[in-house]
Amino acid sequence: MIHVKGGISTLLKGELSDEEIASISRSVDIIGDILILKTIKGATISEQTLKKAARIILDKMPYVKVILYQTTPVDGIYRVRKFKWLAGEKRTVTIHREYGCSFYTDVEKAYFSPRLSFERKRIADQVSAMEIVVNMFAGVGCYSILIAKFSKAAVIYSIDINPEAYLYMVRNCKLNKVGDRVIPLMGDAACFSSKLRDEADRVLMPLPSMAYDFLENAVEMLKPSKRAIIHFYDFQYGKSKEEALEKAHAKLEEHLRRIKRVKDFEIVFKRVVRGTGPHWWQCVLDVEILKCLN
Ligand SMILES: C[S@@+](CC[C@H](N)C(=O)[O-])C[C@H]1O[C@@H](n2cnc3c(N)ncnc32)[C@H](O)[C@@H]1O
Repeated sequence: MIHVKGGISTLLKGELSDEEIASISRSVDIIGDILILKTIKGATISEQTLKKAARIILDKMPYVKVILYQTTPVDGIYRVRKFKWLAGEKRTVTIHREYGCSFYTDVEKAYFSPRLSFERKRIADQVSAMEIVVNMFAGVGCYSILIAKFSKAAVIYSIDINPEAYLYMVRNCKLNKVGDRVIPLMGDAACFSSKLRDEADRVLMPLPSMAYDFLENAVEMLKPSKRAIIHFYDFQYGKSKEEALEKAHAKLEEHLRRIKRVKDFEIVFKRVVRGTGPHWWQCVLDVEILKCLN
């Protein structure tokens, strides 16, 4: 979520009616040079007005080259969304830059969120030298490439089931010159867990909509007999961030207790990454796990 100074409404003041401006969501995503507009729930605003708004924004934000309107929520296994073109160049492909890394993506064909930028760097900064990392849901490779750039990890296995995301990941690995430290793998993370059994010092699970379904697979990949780490993402409802975090914490503990090879564990850190809707929060929990040998 990029906060345009004073909000997107400041750019539209005097050009659209107050009612029309109120229909457009104040926060927008900017991915590379593509700006994504959304409307607030239940708003009725014509396509013509949205196009007018888009042309005004394009004029006032010279680094933006494409304006799209998000017509569906992020959905499905690939976690993608649909758009309507509003103004500027007619494309959905762009290069997004963060922390000195560059990521090609097609905003319609692969998941990408600029809002996770801080979270990706937070994880990358924790990785120690020679670690073996598994990123189960890697998208176009942002977490994995940041880890390769900002740590001395030995290898980052980087899995995604979406063939389009995988191809962008391969391209992004070359673009960012991470050599063979990032290994892109295409397919279901659950199917790779037996191949990577007992290998990982650290497993990333950035698929909050289905994380519990893959928790056992993540544990399978951890090295036994040492405190290995899972970065676990979850969506939780809560009247406050604290309530959501407590719920996520309790649920994760309950699930971990049921996994046979988990001998001991400790949730060593948790925080809300972002709000995802009224009273809904994306939470991350870093959990250290001591696993039995068999
Ligand atoms: C929320 S996105 C996160 C992408 C990336 N980590 C990021 O932050 O940009 C989740 C990703 O998981 C992938 N995915 C969904 N189910 C999967 C599975 N069973 N195995 C591997 N990848 C999967 C989707 O294709 C999607 O790219």
